Amino acid sequence: MSATTAQIVGFIGTSHVPAIGKAIAQNLQQDAYWKPFFDGYPPVRSWLDKVAPDTIVMFYNDHGLKFFLDKMLTFAVGAAPQYLNTDEGWGIPSLGAFQGHPELSWHIIEQLVADEFDPVTCQEMNVDHAFSIPLALLYPGRMVYPIRVVPICINTVQHPLPTMKRCLALGRSVGRALAAWPEKSRVVVMGTGGLSHQLDGARAGFINREFDQQCLNTLIADPEALQHYSVHDLVSLARTQGVEILNWMAARGAMAGTARQVYRNYHIPISNTASAVQVLEPLRQ
Ligand code: DHB
Ligand code: FE
Repeated sequence: MSATTAQIVGFIGTSHVPAIGKAIAQNLQQDAYWKPFFDGYPPVRSWLDKVAPDTIVMFYNDHGLKFFLDKMLTFAVGAAPQYLNTDEGWGIPSLGAFQGHPELSWHIIEQLVADEFDPVTCQEMNVDHAFSIPLALLYPGRMVYPIRVVPICINTVQHPLPTMKRCLALGRSVGRALAAWPEKSRVVVMGTGGLSHQLDGARAGFINREFDQQCLNTLIADPEALQHYSVHDLVSLARTQGVEILNWMAARGAMAGTARQVYRNYHIPISNTASAVQVLEPLRQ
């Protein structure tokens, strides 16, 4: 990696609960329920100001806006000039449009296919709350965002889901693509969703602080150590929607080598979810 290629300046993992969009629309950031959550983001924004990315590669899951159960991808990469967020029925205003980076998207797709992944390639792609809410938290009040985006969508919704190992490898492949991108660029990789949560059924509302903390600690320097968790282990430990940690795993995989934690906030609960935000910076070896 050199200053003449894409440089990954950091990783952000964050929850993407739709109710956050409603709280933003109603200006509830100082409300007693919301404050401990929203207070987690100014430090992330200060860090973003410092590292000044021009591009965000976002690993997330679609919850039915773009892909429905009748046609379910395992991995999909957006290669559109722009991405729209439209109404999903949560009662939150649409956020965006988000400016794409089709040339970088195709470069990433080329690398993924060369590495024997088989992504769905999307030249048109609506992005749901798992994509828009994190950007609204990072760039509040913006109609135009100062970054271009590459959305990478992972199935965490309909089984069979990809494994932790596979998602880490997907991220590693994206990391190789970025290292070989022949233009100067400053990239933040993001994974959204989680941490432990279950939205319906008998175990709705279940949260596993201990497992979440263990994942956050391990992601910093040794994401490989999380590979042994099967999808069923994840459902058992983090519950049905806690499997969204697959997105964090892929994003962390994109940032090769060890890392240091710049910042973390963990707060229980936001809606049904153990909310977390974590910022990591790569350590050059
Ligand atoms: C909630 C969490 C999610 O990850 C999601 O996609 C939708 C809802 C929640 O806790 O309400
Ligand atoms: Fe979700």
